[in-house]
Amino acid sequence: MPMVNSKEMFKKAYEGGYAIGAFNVNNMEIIQGITEGAKMENAPLILQVSAGARKYAKHVYLMKMIEAAIEDTDLPIVVHLDHGPDFETCKSCIDGGFTSVMIDGSHLPFEENIALTRKVVEYAHDRNVTVEAELGRLAGVEDDVKVSAEDSSYTRPEEVEEFATRTGCDSLAIAIGTSHGAFKFKGEPKLRFDILEEVSKRLPGFPIVLHGASSVIPSYVDMINQYGGNMPGAQGVPEEMLRKAASMAVCKINIDSDLRLAFTGELRKHFAEHPDHFDPRQYLTDARTGIREMVRHKIVDVLGCNGKA
Ligand code: G3H
Ligand code: 13P
Ligand code: ZN
Repeated sequence: MPMVNSKEMFKKAYEGGYAIGAFNVNNMEIIQGITEGAKMENAPLILQVSAGARKYAKHVYLMKMIEAAIEDTDLPIVVHLDHGPDFETCKSCIDGGFTSVMIDGSHLPFEENIALTRKVVEYAHDRNVTVEAELGRLAGVEDDVKVSAEDSSYTRPEEVEEFATRTGCDSLAIAIGTSHGAFKFKGEPKLRFDILEEVSKRLPGFPIVLHGASSVIPSYVDMINQYGGNMPGAQGVPEEMLRKAASMAVCKINIDSDLRLAFTGELRKHFAEHPDHFDPRQYLTDARTGIREMVRHKIVDVLGCNGKA
């Protein structure tokens, strides 16, 4: 199975009323945990790489490890740039073998977001690479950029047709109340499903992307706190809301924080239970298994893409 772009994957997801998991990767154990979980559930997969991940692990290492995972699992896998900050980063990822990129112009004025996204689309489509764009702005922390609640803004449905038509993008990330990181809501979680509905009415058949979609699974927050961590007040998107979004026009659901929690929770537990261990293979095996089980849970209980590879 070759690396694929997101075109066919999203078409099937849209028609089938399910979503594909887009999981962030930063190292070998995370890549192996995700792909082993997806293999066990026979699920299509998006592995996404942020600018921070490229800086941490280097493009070439991540690419070679993802190629190995594809060879090992024989699954359809999209290799995607998460939150591409500029044209040059998108170009470098396309030239370096990615099959999909996100250009995140969500902080720009409408016309500038269109111009930048259009430029990336032209370069990408000539090379059979799909492009995700963003309209509206999520709150939370991405890499070293922190967007405050006051600076965030919901997507305006009346803008989406013009944006999609003029940019030619293949999918659109929208802001309906989710945010990046482990602290998403003060008080009751609320998502603007009315905005999602209005956007999908205006763009029938068009794949929508949900960022900031970790549920911040309480059992892992508890595990971290039980073994010496300190994450009071962590809160994520309830899974029933994600299931609802996946049954609607949302074809891609981004999950990073829940993977970080699983990895860290299992590490803390391992060290608490085995204070004498110092072989990385021992504790990283537990962390990798934590990632695998988290991904299986997402695929089966949230995304509904099990058996769809
Ligand atoms: O949305 C951001 C993702 O969680 C990636 O985070 O930029 O810290 O790698 P990062
Ligand atoms: P979370 O922080 O909710 O996992 O969101 C990840 C994300 O949107 C990556 O682009
Ligand atoms: Zn994101």
